[in-house]
Amino acid sequence: MRLGSALLLASLVALGSAGSDAPRGVPVGFVFDPRATCEPQCEHAGICIRNNTCLCARGYEGESCQFANCYPKCKNGGVCLRPGKCRCPLGLGGRYCHKVACEGGCWNGGECIVVNGVAQCICPSSWTGSKCQEAICPQGCQNGGICVAPGICSCPEGWLGGACHTAVCDLRCLNGGKCFSPNKCRCRPPFSGPRCQERRKSY
Ligand SMILES: *[C@@H]1O[C@H](CO)[C@@H](O)[C@H](O)[C@H]1NC(C)=O
Repeated sequence: MRLGSALLLASLVALGSAGSDAPRGVPVGFVFDPRATCEPQCEHAGICIRNNTCLCARGYEGESCQFANCYPKCKNGGVCLRPGKCRCPLGLGGRYCHKVACEGGCWNGGECIVVNGVAQCICPSSWTGSKCQEAICPQGCQNGGICVAPGICSCPEGWLGGACHTAVCDLRCLNGGKCFSPNKCRCRPPFSGPRCQERRKSY
């Protein structure tokens, strides 16, 4: 049990009024049981004043004064290390862990907030990734294309279109042939050849 200062003051007042001449309420020096033992021992300069009763130094509390206290309390899951000193979860700062800081920042309009004691970026709908650094292309980027901005694919050579889904044939496929991959035509019978320019002979 922690002996509160109100209780301490009350016992001092009682001691003062017990003596006939002593003025009331004036501290006369704290009397404690010198043979008192506290188990576990009082920590952080707490004093064992009665059996198993510690008088804690300022800034500590708990049965054996084992806990530091921080006022204001550490926020967002911070742990009080010593009086007034909080250890903050990753991504949080400030004396009371009240400041949110996402490492590397949040890009593209992302907002840094704390979720379950962890700072993280909340991204606008068209961005993702830990820093909102990756654009989202809802249509997908095919054939090795890379999403470089929301809805915009950067296509490798030989491919075009919003999703890099259209092959490019530098020389047009003839006779109804279809360009199905860069510079490759799929021909309609009876045509053949790189550009479907040849008519197969029928025997
Ligand atoms: C405190 O504890 C010791 C040892 O356990 C015991 O001898 C003593 O009488 C106790 N003192 C009081 C005031 O209870």
